[in-house]
Amino acid sequence: MRTLPMLLCLGLSLGAQAEDLQKLTAEGKALIPPFQQQLMATVKNAMQSGGPVVAVESCQLLAPQIASQHSQQPWSVGRTSLQVRNPANAADAWEQQVLQEFAQQQASGQPLAGMQKVAVVDNELRIMQAIAVGEPCLACHGKNLKPEVAAKIDQLYPKDQARGYDPGQLRGAFTLRRTLDNPLE
Ligand code: HEC
Repeated sequence: MRTLPMLLCLGLSLGAQAEDLQKLTAEGKALIPPFQQQLMATVKNAMQSGGPVVAVESCQLLAPQIASQHSQQPWSVGRTSLQVRNPANAADAWEQQVLQEFAQQQASGQPLAGMQKVAVVDNELRIMQAIAVGEPCLACHGKNLKPEVAAKIDQLYPKDQARGYDPGQLRGAFTLRRTLDNPLE
């Protein structure tokens, strides 16, 4: 007869945790659109005012700054890929697994738009959202880079793996994480 109150208790606290997680997940997901918009606007401006070579330079300078600007404590916001340009964006084991899942889901016919993954990993709430290659990305991530653009990328990123893409392919993902205050046991 003692088990009933215990179960109720457990049920309630799990319920409360689930609600918290839902709230935190919504909070994290809300950080993605402004981050994405600022990145897009920055590249677009740089392309228009200075052309693609200057835009590569601004991207190198500004992309990490924009990411830290959109990382509101305790959230950390960034981008990753299975083929990175900047080694600092390399995927960890969990991110690699999720990127592979995204690629498999796309291969089985699901659109990349809105593809997301949410999980609690080692007491962190983690969120990823797929990023597709669009036409404006091809100048720097496509198959036929202008020689001067390729040269600038080679100079700034000697280990670049992020070119040769076609439109519609999975380029990478937004990746967000925050520590959970109440560990899920
Ligand atoms: C003007 C050139 C340029 C254009 C256009 C461009 N990128 Fe990039 N991209 C870069 C550079 C440079 C980096 C490395 C930034 C850094 O050092 O963090 C990068 C990094 C990334 C990353 C982070 C992972 C990695 O490889 O380091 C993603 C994801 C990405 N770009 C996606 C896109 C998408 C999607 C588009 C089109 C909407 C796009 N890029 C357009 C130059 C460009």
